[in-house]
Amino acid sequence: MNDSSSPIDVAPLFEPIAIRGLALANRIVMAPMTRNFSPGGVPGEDVAAYYRRRAEGGTGLLITEGVGIDHPAALGDAGLGESNLPHLHGEAALAGWRRVVDAVHAAGGRIVPQLWHQGVMREPGTGPHPEAGSLRPSGLWGPAGRMTSIDPAYAERVQAPTRPMSEGEIQDVIDAYARSARHAREAGFDGIAIHGAHGYLIDTFLWDETNHRTDAWGGDRRARARFAAEVVRAIRREAGESLPIFFRFSQWKQQDFKARLAATPQELEEVLGPIADAGVDVFDGSARYFDRAEFEGSPLNLSGWARKLTGKLAMAIGGIGLDRGFYDSKRDGRAGGSDNVALLMRRFERGEFDLVAVGRALLNEPRWTEKLRHGHALPAFDEQRMKELY
Ligand SMILES: Cc1cc2nc3c(=O)[nH]c(=O)nc-3n(C[C@H](O)[C@H](O)[C@H](O)COP(=O)(O)O)c2cc1C
Repeated sequence: MNDSSSPIDVAPLFEPIAIRGLALANRIVMAPMTRNFSPGGVPGEDVAAYYRRRAEGGTGLLITEGVGIDHPAALGDAGLGESNLPHLHGEAALAGWRRVVDAVHAAGGRIVPQLWHQGVMREPGTGPHPEAGSLRPSGLWGPAGRMTSIDPAYAERVQAPTRPMSEGEIQDVIDAYARSARHAREAGFDGIAIHGAHGYLIDTFLWDETNHRTDAWGGDRRARARFAAEVVRAIRREAGESLPIFFRFSQWKQQDFKARLAATPQELEEVLGPIADAGVDVFDGSARYFDRAEFEGSPLNLSGWARKLTGKLAMAIGGIGLDRGFYDSKRDGRAGGSDNVALLMRRFERGEFDLVAVGRALLNEPRWTEKLRHGHALPAFDEQRMKELY
């Protein structure tokens, strides 16, 4: 992939960085990717070996697949047909995660769990607690816009409005995030990542289409960010001062790929400011392609803006090492390898972001980071690998 006549200098990506008590050997991070290989919510030896391979392959930090928090409505079928999603509570699952963490640490890696509550996306009657509902700030699933990944039959079933979450239900979920953070710390994880993106529970508080509340959990952008901020605060109390907190957000929603939380940098500042103040260390602006300007008049991508506006660290994501974004490739099932590392380095060296998250390329090749470092050819993308614990 690297043109041998003009090798791309990737050394800056291999400079260590410390984030609170977390010392990372380099800037490459495995993006959170649902694998659906944990029957009963319990990650087994195969899952531990899957993560260990990425640590052995030199990736500095692994973010796990989305892991259900300790709340009955956290997980179910969210339109993606998954049933073997892992969770982060109960003796068996926690023992499973301890094995994962130990395997990654033994290989010299670091790992944080991505805490996940599906919220509005969860279909009632599915998952480990079929009786649990579909939690929605205002009872709304969201206006279905352009969706490419969701089964339309599922969308039909879940779109009807339900009742809004009660104050008690909101507090219960915040407490569940806190408990899960404590479990993560006790299992030996190196930090906490929060899934605040893609139209799941936290994101539906941020999004004006799904949050019409007139109490203290709704209103303008800052008010809609209160739930996310309270989740971050509760997690910080349990995680302590040494574990970093990563927060993923996105403009797009699974309900509508064209949705936007913010049309201008100022609006983005209104969304992220309260969440940053609550104690986030790293913003992960989930974009479909990293080399895309988020707002007119500046080349900065979504994470670049998060860094500039909040002063926190930022992580870029989207199509690194591949020729197209995840959901763009879903349309026709194609994603080739790509020589976009030079573009990545140009942005990284300008100081636009501090960490680089790699998703599908790391599913495809566990030693991707090591190969990048040594200028080895990166393999062509193999769609099949997404279906295996390769
Ligand atoms: C199989 C698969 C599962 C994913 N699951 C999650 C998830 O659990 N949580 C999440 O925040 N993003 C998830 N994503 C999105 C990825 O984290 C990432 O943002 C996306 O794949 C774009 O990065 P890439 O182009 O490097 O693959 C998933 C992506 C893939 C391909």
